[in-house]
Amino acid sequence: MISKQTIDKIFSTIRVEEIVGEYVQLKRAGSNYKGLSPFHEEKSPSFVVSPSKQIWKDFSTGKGGTAISFLMEIENFTYPEALRHAAKKYGIEIEEDQREFSEEAKNAQSEKDLLYKIHEVANDYFQNFLWEAEEGKSIGLAYFKERELKDDIIKKFQLGYSPEKKNAFTAYALEKGYAKEVLEKSGLSIFPENAPNGIDRFRERVIFPIHSFSGRVLGFGARILKNNVKTAKYLNSPETEIYHKSNVLYGLNQSKQAISRKNICLLVEGYMDVISLHMSGIENVVASSGTSLTTEQIKLIKRLTENVTILFDGDNAGIKASFRSIDMLLTEGMNIRVLLFPEGDDPDSFARKHPQDYVEKFIENEAMDFIDFKAEILLKEAGNDPIKKAEAIRNIVKSVGFVQNALKREVYLKEVSNKFGLSEQSLFNELDVQRQINQNQTQHVQQQKENAPVKMEVVPLEDDKGDPFLYDVLFMESKLVDHMLMFGDVVLKRTDENNTEYQITVIEEILHHFEEEQYEFLVKGNEIIIDQVKEGIKEDELRSGNFFVTFMDEQITSKVVDALIPLDELENWASRNIYPPNYGDKVAEQIKGDVLLHKYRYIDYLIKETAKELDHSADEGKYFELIKKITLLKQASMKLNDIIEYSPIKGIYRDRKK
Ligand code: CTP
Ligand code: MN
Repeated sequence: MISKQTIDKIFSTIRVEEIVGEYVQLKRAGSNYKGLSPFHEEKSPSFVVSPSKQIWKDFSTGKGGTAISFLMEIENFTYPEALRHAAKKYGIEIEEDQREFSEEAKNAQSEKDLLYKIHEVANDYFQNFLWEAEEGKSIGLAYFKERELKDDIIKKFQLGYSPEKKNAFTAYALEKGYAKEVLEKSGLSIFPENAPNGIDRFRERVIFPIHSFSGRVLGFGARILKNNVKTAKYLNSPETEIYHKSNVLYGLNQSKQAISRKNICLLVEGYMDVISLHMSGIENVVASSGTSLTTEQIKLIKRLTENVTILFDGDNAGIKASFRSIDMLLTEGMNIRVLLFPEGDDPDSFARKHPQDYVEKFIENEAMDFIDFKAEILLKEAGNDPIKKAEAIRNIVKSVGFVQNALKREVYLKEVSNKFGLSEQSLFNELDVQRQINQNQTQHVQQQKENAPVKMEVVPLEDDKGDPFLYDVLFMESKLVDHMLMFGDVVLKRTDENNTEYQITVIEEILHHFEEEQYEFLVKGNEIIIDQVKEGIKEDELRSGNFFVTFMDEQITSKVVDALIPLDELENWASRNIYPPNYGDKVAEQIKGDVLLHKYRYIDYLIKETAKELDHSADEGKYFELIKKITLLKQASMKLNDIIEYSPIKGIYRDRKK
């Protein structure tokens, strides 16, 4: 675990504009920066970064947060991954909070670290050898050139070459001080009895490093150079403590941003398919690397998008084996399409033959939904045999049965019905049967899903528009909380009834108001913020905007960021229906007015609620009690109305008060 001190240090060192600036081209706009949203294709910039507040806000998607949450969004890092990434960039040493670890866990951690390290060393070694050594250049690099790869793409995928010499890398690593045991565990070297100096696993092959989601090298794939040699074309790292091939997708690290931005992932088979597509500008692509797709791999894609297009070679023998992948993708709630390349082509050759535009259009136009795809394959096989035909249709309905969303399931079933001219009723019956079979097969998966944690509910303002009284209170409640977040530490000068001047912070004044009214919060998120503020006061700590920005509750953070990003310096927002709040110098007046208005609307709301109670009250004693309550509330309301009416703050509320 990263220590609290380190986290604080990271937050105080990193600059949001620098971190975001690596992904988004930012231009000055007043005291802010703006640029095109990296999460959404757009033409006019709606992405704002505030260097003074150290936060960002993307108005096209509503997302916002700190530099760390930006990294989490864009790289799909977990919180600690994002912290470590930022620490590395700024050269901050991470101090681990060791108390949490047992001795055993600590050793395991450092063992894993060593495995990561040795892979980094090997990756550098293979790349250096490719670019610097004679053998590397004349054999490895020449091979890549023959396959038409450009220098920049070879570098992007960190391709390398392992020399012919039996133990070139092993000797190099031992020399550098890495232990035999580590080399053995990494799968990079073996130490048979008759070869005490060790043997490299990969020899005389070009090297494809396999990266984790966040870019660490986990293992390697290595291709032989001659096609006629009677040994496996590709040799891959064995399963190790850091490389589990069923949890990894080749190219994910290089493709994740494009997948997320385009909201679709292309799935291919091989290393070269990924690389060639990248070279032609199509960067939203990953490979399952010759193994059949696993649930873990699908989940990796699902972090980025729910849309997958599977690309098959035209002469692929394993197409029918792919049916299982289709069913698995459907079970995970993915939308899938399938594309068959013309005979003789695979994504690699096709991408090298045609320009980017053509390939993109081809994929877009030729990809079929899974029903058409399965129908094409299975019906071709069935020919005119009616029994085989029925079997094919049952097979397709079975896949529809894996679709998790009931509405989508129905749409697909209608498609099957139209396609084959069969009645919907008989297909529905078949669907029930197939779903029963499917369910028995996937029961344990379902159970895992049910144990997922429940999310905090924040009452959204928009939903309460039905009750205008309630909505008015909610609106002001949130506005006051926004003030606390924006101006919490601003000191206000006030005079009491004896005309004595006193000073009070915005937080204190608003908190005092809520407590005086014994106010019960209507929005859960506001209540959480206020509880945290009170907690802070007890500990002599001022919890305002910056505190909450780093508060690890997504919904709170985004509310806080909304309150903190001022829009007044940005032109053209009105056209998007975003209006700058009228804050600025008027803080003191504004807060005084908003407190009064909140109180006023709250009283109105209470009057209405009490009247409702009165309507349903049969008890006479209770009846008079309620009448009295309403009278008192009405008096308070009139008094407040007068204050608001004759106060200079009235002008501020032209927008809302009748
Ligand atoms: N593969 C593997 N081991 C093998 C053969 C294949 O791991 N012995 C994996 C590799 O990830 C390979 C993918 O399966 O990229 C697809 O295999 P194939 O179509 O045979 O290779 P290509 O990607 O077409 O490779 P190349 O174009 O270099 O011949
Ligand atoms: Mn190929």
